[in-house]
Amino acid sequence: MTAPVDPFSAVETVWAERRSKRGYRPDPVPHATLERLFEAAQHAPSWCNVQPWRIAITEPPVTQELATALQAAARGGLPHPEIGFPLDYPTPYKEHRIACGAALYRAMGVAREDKAGRYDAWLRNYALFDAPHLAVVSCDRRLGPYAYVDVGVWLGYVLTAAPMLGLDTCAMASIAAYPEPLRSRLPIGENDVVLFGLVIGHADEEAPANACRTTREPAAKNVSFVAT
Ligand SMILES: Cc1cc2nc3c(=O)[nH]c(=O)nc-3n(C[C@H](O)[C@H](O)[C@H](O)COP(=O)(O)O)c2cc1C
Repeated sequence: MTAPVDPFSAVETVWAERRSKRGYRPDPVPHATLERLFEAAQHAPSWCNVQPWRIAITEPPVTQELATALQAAARGGLPHPEIGFPLDYPTPYKEHRIACGAALYRAMGVAREDKAGRYDAWLRNYALFDAPHLAVVSCDRRLGPYAYVDVGVWLGYVLTAAPMLGLDTCAMASIAAYPEPLRSRLPIGENDVVLFGLVIGHADEEAPANACRTTREPAAKNVSFVAT
């Protein structure tokens, strides 16, 4: 007798195996595949079904032109995101953040005291990790924080679906720190705020950064069941 199929195991596997990839091969993703991904993600729910995510996706050669402009901006000025990045990470977030950075630097072979190496690793964000596509995700600021929640739900859909299409990704708040190169080249509405980017492509599995592994707390750290 064959065991009954557990439909949840498919999504459990996708979630358990997905990782942010920070090194890509240059080959672009077929346009039809990108369209299929973003068409499917339109099913994401949102409060009052307002569907507030706004996406501009680059394809070669625009991706590389944007990467050049972003690197120049990052080398030349301080970060100035349109909505504030966290300034302080209290415990336990601070410890998670430190562990995440340490895992990446370990994978890249960058020592803790190697300031130049850390700067170069940070700049890799603005080279878009050599990915062929950048999706710049923005949202109408007039809708306020709940619309940002909706955009996060949408992002979860995309991050889940992409590996099922054989695609690798890395969400990138870092690119939101330099909005001018994005606004001057992409259709981003004047009422929209740039939230984050998402690089998409096929990972170069030989890239040292792609050996990075992060961990998660057991759900009991985040979730409380209340029965009485
Ligand atoms: C909204 C968001 C923004 C992120 N911004 C960046 C970023 O700017 N640069 C980067 O290298 N990774 C970024 N990441 C990736 C996280 O560092 C990564 O998801 C986390 O460390 C967990 O690792 P994993 O995705 O491999 O499971 C971001 C992820 C999210 C969801």
